[in-house]
Amino acid sequence: MTAGGRVGPHPWTLVHLETVGSTNDYVKAFAGVLADRTAVYADTQSTGRGRDGRVWASPPGGLYASLLLKPPPSPEHASRLSLLAAGLLCDMLEGAGARALVKWPNDILVENRKIAGLLPEYGTHPAPWYVLGLGMNLATVPRLPDARGLEPTSLASYGTPPEPAAVLLDLLSRLDSAWPDRTADPLAGRIPSLTARLWQLGGMVRLARGGETVTGTLVGIGDDGSVRIATLGGTRSFESGELRPL
Ligand code: BTN
Repeated sequence: MTAGGRVGPHPWTLVHLETVGSTNDYVKAFAGVLADRTAVYADTQSTGRGRDGRVWASPPGGLYASLLLKPPPSPEHASRLSLLAAGLLCDMLEGAGARALVKWPNDILVENRKIAGLLPEYGTHPAPWYVLGLGMNLATVPRLPDARGLEPTSLASYGTPPEPAAVLLDLLSRLDSAWPDRTADPLAGRIPSLTARLWQLGGMVRLARGGETVTGTLVGIGDDGSVRIATLGGTRSFESGELRPL
């Protein structure tokens, strides 16, 4: 991998690559030399990754980006930051004509089809860093559903899609406005609006986490970004897991 061309001006340093294995892997490999608030984006990825080892198909025409923060947000704020980004992506998609919902914690769906996903990762070498990976289908729909059977969609199904770089710049500027103080809770004051964006809110869901499966009604998210599920035994909060409709 080699460092790509830089584009500016912006509070973020933008690094554009024509192709790369994975922008997250690129940022991880160069975390020691890339500046805080560097956004790396690529036209295509050959080994794009999703959560839980899934493949992220990355044909030309989509947005494949990784945002580097170093030092990283505090551990309790890190998962809330990706939820903040998920909510901002929904706002952007709605502005582009697609009513998007957050499938907690890291998927963005339109009409029950996946349009975008987030992949937050952390590390400590050579100094602590955090990367928020983002994939969004803009011009084309990847051919295959993901390994969970979620069908894909793209923004092109809802109108003329913007250029990937324009989507990235829009997200960065929304992120800077929504979270100007990096020591602050990224979700402060945003729980109600994010709750309104939750996929399956009020619906029956199954949450798989480790060997456990919890069934109940999805009733919202807590201040800490955990998902809240009303079960027969009472309402429980979960910090991780994979949601499915019942
Ligand atoms: C998911 O839905 O499971 C997360 C998908 C994240 C995909 C993006 S594309 C840019 C960045 N580089 C990767 O390899 N993955 C993320």
